[in-house]
Amino acid sequence: MTNKNFKPVRKAVFPVAGLGTRFLPATKEMPKEMLPINDRPLIQHVVEEAKAAGIEEFIFVTGRHKNMLEEHFDFQPELEQTLEARGKYDMIEKVRASELPAGKLFCTRQPKPLGLGHAVWCAAKLIGDEPFAIILPDDLVNHEEGCLTQMINTYNEHGGNLVAVKDVPRDQTSKYGILDIEDDKDGVVSIKGLVEKPDPADAPSTLSIIGRYILQPEIFTHLAAFEKGAGNEIQLTDAMAKLLGKQPFHGLRFEGDHFDCGSRLGFIAANLAYSLKDPEIGADVKTLMDSYK
Ligand code: G1P
Repeated sequence: MTNKNFKPVRKAVFPVAGLGTRFLPATKEMPKEMLPINDRPLIQHVVEEAKAAGIEEFIFVTGRHKNMLEEHFDFQPELEQTLEARGKYDMIEKVRASELPAGKLFCTRQPKPLGLGHAVWCAAKLIGDEPFAIILPDDLVNHEEGCLTQMINTYNEHGGNLVAVKDVPRDQTSKYGILDIEDDKDGVVSIKGLVEKPDPADAPSTLSIIGRYILQPEIFTHLAAFEKGAGNEIQLTDAMAKLLGKQPFHGLRFEGDHFDCGSRLGFIAANLAYSLKDPEIGADVKTLMDSYK
């Protein structure tokens, strides 16, 4: 793909301050982002997706009871020594793959749950004046080429702002940010309107935003107005809508299976899909699944 010299996307924001009430009591003490999908926690899946896309700085917007998320990406000398003494070299490799090198992980806090827009605003100083990605760990996309890599390839063509999109059944529009589109070509749609969680009857389309964004820093000006929207929360979608007409804004129909791991069913579906493709246990998982028929 041609790179038209748009400013590169080097930083990614991971909003991880949410309470995870849909997984209580499992998430009473443990952050929902630490729930495992196959052999690694949700947050590691999305950090790996960002790493593969060339992201250099990882910014967690955390909150109370979320320290475990930072710890997970730390160097753990005692664990590595124990594994080495036991000759478990393959396990050492796996543990090392979960580390983030010095100077790459940054954390900021969202003191109150005021909405996704507010969570992203909390990272404003760490982003500064450059385009950046946002990854919502609840949304997993299973594909050889990660969703964020696909998006950065598209960004290198079009610049501006970009969201990952997929069609949802009309009766589910009230769970998502929904697009009003004017052009739809080769998997890239140009956006003329954005509305957060519309009733099915009012939704301008059924094309919904999945938790991957590439945004220009001007978004922070609009987020800083702290205007409340759907659900009485400060919505990222509302601030994005203010950029329409001023900057290019596209949606990418990404490739891959999407799982909403913030729902129990989506979480189970993701566990099945990721364990089925695991070379160590995939065949046994298939046999197990077949035995339930
Ligand atoms: C958020 C966004 C919404 C988007 C969704 C994707 O909603 O506000 O626009 O479609 O993520 O997962 P939430 O799921 O936090 O309610």
